[in-house]
Amino acid sequence: MKTLVYAGSFDPITLGHLNIIERASHLCDELVVLLSSSKNKNYQFTIEQRQNFLKESTESIKNVRVDSFGGLLADYMQKNSYTCLLRGLRGPKDWYLEETMFITNKALSGNLETLCLLASPKYRHISSSLVKELTPHLVDWKKFVPPCVEKCLK
Ligand code: PNS
Repeated sequence: MKTLVYAGSFDPITLGHLNIIERASHLCDELVVLLSSSKNKNYQFTIEQRQNFLKESTESIKNVRVDSFGGLLADYMQKNSYTCLLRGLRGPKDWYLEETMFITNKALSGNLETLCLLASPKYRHISSSLVKELTPHLVDWKKFVPPCVEKCLK
């Protein structure tokens, strides 16, 4: 069974993430959407909220499973015998970060591969940071986030 693991903070999940999840779900048997929580990071949404957003917005995609982890991604992958990470690329800035992450993960666990999907032009500008920046303002959330997040932001 081919499993892809799409890890992130998802603080919160955006339409860009969701588009990557939907497209990747056709490329594998199982897609694990993995919620990362680090003690050293400050999140706008709690782990429960972020997990609920992920579950609610992906519930219609049959081969998606939501899981969470703390610590090293390479350890999670090894422990679960998964070998392929999925990342979304919005542009050159993402590429530099992803390359570093790829090399680091390879150094930690030699058999880890990373599959990158290019963001659809429609969602290329969307990020969780942008959503957080817009949070105090009254904007049309439908353009940025799935309905469950929209409800919470409103
Ligand atoms: O939401 P993000 O910033 O895209 O998530 C990045 C994530 C969670 C994949 C990355 O920060 C991560 O792997 N964190 C776990 C710590 C780790 O394994 N670090 C070394 C690999 S770069």
